[in-house]
Amino acid sequence: MGAFVLLLFFFCVFDNPVGSLDNGLSLTPTMGWLHWERFMCNIDCDSDPHNCISENLYMQMANVMVTEGWKEAGYEYICIDDCWSSHQRDAQGLLQADPKRFPSGIKKLADYVHSKGLMLGIYADLGTETCGGFPGSLGYYDIDAQTFADWGVDLLKFDGCYMKWNLLGEGYTNMSIALNKTGRSIVYSCEWPLYEWPYHQPDYHALRKVCNHWRNSVDVEDSWASVKNILEWTADHQNIIVPVAGPGGWNDPDMLVIGNFGLSHDQQESQMALWAIMASPLLMSNDLRDICPRAKELLQNRHIISISQDPLGKQGYRTAKVNNFEVWERPLTGGQLALAVMNKYEAGGPRHFPLTLATLPSWKICTPECNVTQILPSYKELGVHTLFSQLVVAINPSGTALLSITPMKVE
Ligand code: GLA
Repeated sequence: MGAFVLLLFFFCVFDNPVGSLDNGLSLTPTMGWLHWERFMCNIDCDSDPHNCISENLYMQMANVMVTEGWKEAGYEYICIDDCWSSHQRDAQGLLQADPKRFPSGIKKLADYVHSKGLMLGIYADLGTETCGGFPGSLGYYDIDAQTFADWGVDLLKFDGCYMKWNLLGEGYTNMSIALNKTGRSIVYSCEWPLYEWPYHQPDYHALRKVCNHWRNSVDVEDSWASVKNILEWTADHQNIIVPVAGPGGWNDPDMLVIGNFGLSHDQQESQMALWAIMASPLLMSNDLRDICPRAKELLQNRHIISISQDPLGKQGYRTAKVNNFEVWERPLTGGQLALAVMNKYEAGGPRHFPLTLATLPSWKICTPECNVTQILPSYKELGVHTLFSQLVVAINPSGTALLSITPMKVE
């Protein structure tokens, strides 16, 4: 017995070196779909039944996830954001879905989503109200966690509106405990740092023990300016946020807006490439019922997804700014490297970036040789290279070249 306890102690202490939330979930970044950026708080089902926040929306999305290859590509969670609930709790004090828009209730919806082999996410807020003005969970953490577990929910996005900033840590921790107490496996998606940054540098080691992913920066919008702003924030804070990311706990730069209205195809490629480099959750917010084939192909690109889901779980970071290019790198399993070069010069045509030791110090992994594959803008095996190769990639304005580099040992 003593030996067993000792073994358990060593397992708990040493198997989890960065101290992640110990719920065994999100060992690679969560993949799925979240309604917010595309559908927002559209509750007008009378005049816009096709796009309003209702059970039909999630059921239709679940159907398409299965029939159109999304599930097979790895997208697993269908997530409800704000504006799903009734404005009042029920007579027992429980949260309830809006009866008109969710006539079957969330449990039935979860059953439906599960019957498709998918998972259901839901949204709540640790303060007195959600950001959209629906009932908050303050004073109800245990009750709400149990309600979500009883409904069969698999992910909770817990927002931080209407709460004093100095109580965020306590609130997020208490909800994490409440979720664990239910015994159900529920991915816990937090916004703790986003609400704490204006006052104070968040304690990332503390929040990593509590959340599976956490939003750091402002809400993404359907524009290149918004995507660039999030990338800039991430690079500016990378020394603080990158070291804490790893299996079970991820920085969340917010949803993928690929397939909507605001990004050119090159900009969509940049978002996809950089979200993979940043080991971000891949939560699409778009209309999967009506998405252009190029955006779909990009979101389902298995080479990019395998970088995102690399089991080593190290977040990449910006390593250089050269001549209006940004270089981002992510270490992968087996000594491989993922490399994204973004062309930040937004005029003219494609510009050329030479892969040399001068522009890219990590090119030294090509000693004595390396194998280079270009994944974006198009898939190309670029062959075996050495430190002195003259390899050049062409990148459109606001586009990104994504490459993987595999070091080779010469026999
Ligand atoms: C906040 C969050 C968003 C979304 C809305 C909903 O702004 O950051 O992601 O959940 O609330 O009201």
